[in-house]
Amino acid sequence: VNLRRRSLPIRARLALYYAAVLAVILAALGVYLVVALRGALEDRAHDSLEAAYEPVAAQLAQASGAPDLAAYLHAGAIPGEDDLEVVGQILDRSGRVVEASGAPGTTRPMVDVGVLAEATRRGHWHEPRRIAGRPHEDLVIVVPLATGPRAGSFAVFAQSLRATDDAVRRLIVLLLLASPLALGLAVAGGWRVARAALGPVDDLTRTAAEIDAARSGARLPEPERADELGRLARTLNAMLTRLDEGLTRERRFAADASHELRTPLGLMATELDVALRAATATDDPRPLLRSVRGEVTRLSRLVDDLLVLSRADALEGVALARQQTDLLDLAITVVARMQPLAQAREIALALDGEPVHADVDPVLLGQALSNLVDNAIKHSPQATPVAVHVGPGPVLSVTDSGPGIPAEDLAHVFDRFYRVDRARGRETGGAGLGLAIARAVAQAHGGSVEAISRPGEGSTFTIRLSTPPGSTAAAAREQ
Ligand SMILES: Nc1ncnc2c1ncn2[C@@H]1O[C@H](COP(=O)(O)OP(=O)(O)OP(=O)(O)O)[C@@H](O)[C@H]1O
Ligand SMILES: [Mg+2]
Repeated sequence: VNLRRRSLPIRARLALYYAAVLAVILAALGVYLVVALRGALEDRAHDSLEAAYEPVAAQLAQASGAPDLAAYLHAGAIPGEDDLEVVGQILDRSGRVVEASGAPGTTRPMVDVGVLAEATRRGHWHEPRRIAGRPHEDLVIVVPLATGPRAGSFAVFAQSLRATDDAVRRLIVLLLLASPLALGLAVAGGWRVARAALGPVDDLTRTAAEIDAARSGARLPEPERADELGRLARTLNAMLTRLDEGLTRERRFAADASHELRTPLGLMATELDVALRAATATDDPRPLLRSVRGEVTRLSRLVDDLLVLSRADALEGVALARQQTDLLDLAITVVARMQPLAQAREIALALDGEPVHADVDPVLLGQALSNLVDNAIKHSPQATPVAVHVGPGPVLSVTDSGPGIPAEDLAHVFDRFYRVDRARGRETGGAGLGLAIARAVAQAHGGSVEAISRPGEGSTFTIRLSTPPGSTAAAAREQ
């Protein structure tokens, strides 16, 4: 049995739950009301009966001969009780009827000898009970007559409880009529509230079901209200946007990467084809091999870069092998490594700064700095100066006097495969991954890379690493 398919919608469950709780409350309240009303009415009937007929009993005890019981009862009539149906009997000690007020049901004793004994012991006796021949339940009072000519006999009075019965019956009818109405209103109200509250959930579900990778631009409807559902929709939409961006980035990355890989492969294939067609025994294969070697170098660099970047993606940040490092030492090593490249372009590569100790991955940070220096050298005209600066704090910057970067490109130079001038990029051999790697490395260190550029004057790229609290650099800055 598929339980999931069988379960009711939340709004129906809410409404039913509502109704069930209310039904229990109404039933309990109804039972309580009926019992309480009946008890109160019987108490009142008893009080007034007793107050009215104890004196009558006393008079009866003194009466001689055969008194007219109906007249006595009439004399004791309870003021204000218009529907008074009181009947009476005088029973002797063996329970036989001595006198009766004459109404139907009073010819036979209304109580038995056991009740008379009980009344003698307690002084009086009262109880609601049914008397054969009487149409309603009666409240019955037994008063022992202790003195006078009738000492030892008992006066028995019975008052119909019809008024009590009627009142209770009216209450029951009222409850039976009103309860379903109240239940119906509660269920309808609960249903409306639940539907109003959960309607947007259905919308969300329907729209979410329609969103897939192909239509990833679609968004969930956002309810205007700032309630839980509004927040849910907004949060989900923000998540969709992030996923969307990731997806787009991923697709573009794959497309760009395969494009970059195809170009050198195509070049090599063409060169090899030409060589094979023209080949004679005397041809020197070395120029061809040199050219193919160049393309292979470019390919392996590209593959290395792609590897670093995909690792950065997979690990949400590059896996760092941190160790205490002097950033100035690190910069000295990088600058020394880049000097031949700088000299080839007659560029004066200078370094200054102060020793800064930081907990970093020296290999990756070295690569990031190399990429910046490489850019400064490659993208600047011949014989212009490039300066590397370390500090204050864990900051590394590279400044050149090159062409600078147009403002509209500055926001994109850190994107993968982005080159300001595509044609020039190919000629200088770059794939457009250097800055993307520098940024991934800086972010893995909890830092950032920023670029400042004035077109025509030059650019400065700065790697800022986060300072762990309590480090000397942070302490120095706080003073
Ligand atoms: N110092 C700079 N001066 C002028 N333009 C720069 C500078 N640094 C980067 N750029 C521009 O930003 C683009 C992206 O730089 P990035 O280092 O990511 O790629 P690349 O240098 O072209 O290739 P790669 O670094 O992968 O060999 C460059 O193509 C270049 O147009
Ligand atoms: Mg570069």
